[in-house]
Formats: sequence, structure tokens, C-alpha cells
Amino acid sequence: TEPLRVAIAGLGTVGAGVIRLLDTNGELIARRAGRPIEVVAVTARDRSKDRDVDLSRFKWIDDPTALAVEADADVVLELVGGADGTALALARAALDAKKSFVTANKAMIAHHGFELAQAAESAGVALKFEAAVAGGIPVVKGLREGAAANAIDRVYGVMNGTCNFILSKMESEGGDFSEVLAEAQAKGFAEADPSFDIDGVDAAHKLSILSSIAFGTQPAFDDVAIGGIRDVVAADIAEAAALGYRIRLVGIAEEDGEGLFQRVHPYLVPMAHPLAHVSGSTNAVVAEGNFVGRLFFEGAGAGDGPTASAVVADLIDIARGEFGPPYAMPVTVLAKQPPAPTGER
Ligand code: HSE
Repeated sequence: TEPLRVAIAGLGTVGAGVIRLLDTNGELIARRAGRPIEVVAVTARDRSKDRDVDLSRFKWIDDPTALAVEADADVVLELVGGADGTALALARAALDAKKSFVTANKAMIAHHGFELAQAAESAGVALKFEAAVAGGIPVVKGLREGAAANAIDRVYGVMNGTCNFILSKMESEGGDFSEVLAEAQAKGFAEADPSFDIDGVDAAHKLSILSSIAFGTQPAFDDVAIGGIRDVVAADIAEAAALGYRIRLVGIAEEDGEGLFQRVHPYLVPMAHPLAHVSGSTNAVVAEGNFVGRLFFEGAGAGDGPTASAVVADLIDIARGEFGPPYAMPVTVLAKQPPAPTGER
């Protein structure tokens, strides 16, 4: 059987993790996918960096945007990051060349997901981004496929590992905000620009993608009301605890009959709610469906192993020929653009 040939752009922790995962679980994956998944070409900023994986077996391409045409691949896997620039140019080039496109890039999907979904649909290829929301948790598939029979009333959760790590640490050890942030950066959870984490932007990227899946709308990042955790101090956490609450940065999207309401803010979560017990860099997503009831997804939202796990699950779908629509339904019927919520940004 013909292998599924993959070209990878970006060899940071996740890219190297994908190669390691395919090396380790290749046989099992080939069995499940019905054919092997093979990396054929790679591109990255720094060729000589030690990544602890053997890259000599792959074709090296210097210009990342040329990857789509120069690599003899069926799928382009983008792990460069950033809403625009190289990542977006590569996405457009790949879909234009009728190659399926897989990405972990939440900023790009939040801003350009609709355009890319339309391009994928007209090219007859797949656009997949499971790893863009909550890392290893299969929440895109969970909502798009598992809960497909339901009207979703509400979707919400803890979607930023850096903030949750900071809040949990401040809670358990009373640590200082900037010290704990430095620790999150050292552990590799934080974004290149950590203000995206602590000011709620990263969670808003993920929320807007998730609500597009749950409600069948275009991702509407600009309509998310956003607050972060910069101003949370140890005393807030102690007061909350005394009253039976924990502070969590929660993203929440709900349809109120008139439109989609999306917010990211620090919330007081009652101790009895499962989100109060999501600690450290863990992520969790809750969805309420009209027939299934409350679903609770929990797991690692970042890190090479979990993120690679989500990326390769997308590759397996494509190897099986399961392209699916990128959102809850074919994007051509997603005309509704939700109105902007009232309230601060
Ligand atoms: N900076 C993100 C987080 C990484 O802290 O959750 C995963 O998207």
C-alpha cells in the first residue's frame, strides 16, 4: 500500500515530537491507518540544531513556503506558528497545490480558519487542526464527531496551561506571579510572547475555534471579550479559597438565541465544579449537549508528546481518507457571523 507522505514545516518541540512518535508507534499507526505514514521532507529555521532525532533521512528544503510544491508529499504539516507570515503563506500554497494541510496553529485558525476551510473545500483536500485546541485532548473530534448529533448549548473550559499553572502554583505555594511565569516559560508551556498567555489571547484563540466547531459558525476571534490574569494577586486567591472558590482563567461560549457570546476571563469556580480541580498545566473543556448532557474532556494542553499525539491523529484520519469538513458542517453553509458581545475587551 502507498504510504501517506508528509512534509513538515517547523522542527521545534512539537515537530521533533511528531517524528519521534512516528518512529516509535509507526507499525501500530500503519495498521490502524491502513497504510504507513512517512515523513518525506522537512524545513526549519535552523538546520544544525540538535533535536535528538535523525533528520538525515528526509529531504531538507530551505524555503518553508516552497515546501508545498517542492516536497513530493500528500500532506503539509505546519508547526511554524504565528497568525500570518510564513505559516499563512504556506497554508495557502499547500491548499492551492491541492495538498491536505494539518496544523497546530491556533492563532492562524482563529484568524484565517474560514478562508482556509473554504480553500480546502474547493480543493477537495483536508484541513485539520486538532492540536490547535487544548493540545492532546481530542476535543475537536469529540465535538465535531462524537457530539455531532447534539445541539450544543454551551462550551467552556480551561484552555491555557500557562495561566492554569500560574494560578495553581500561586494557590498551593503562594508564589510570586513573575517567578511562577518564569517557571512556566522554563517548562516550555508559555508562548514565545507570554503576554498572549497571561492576557487571555491564547485562550481566546482556542475558544473561537472551539465555538466555531460547537456552533457551526466561522471562527470569530475579534468578537471574544478578553481578560487575563495579570492583575490576580495572592490575596485574591486566598479570599476566593476562603469562600469556597478557585480562580481559573475560563473561556466560555454560548448561544443565546440572538448570537454567539464568547468571553475569556478569570472566573470564581465553585469547589464542587470539576473545573476547580483542573490543576497545573492541564486543560479541560466542558460541553453541554441537548441529548448527551455534560461532557468533560481533560488532559495535557501542551507539550511535545500530547501535541504530537493530536497532530498524528489528524494524519491518521487523512491516511484513512477521512477528510471531513473542518468545522461542524460544510463551511459553505456557515454564513452566520455572530454579533459582537457587549462588554469590555
Ligand atoms: N501557551 C499555551 C498554553 C501552549 O500555555 O496553554 C499550548 O497552546
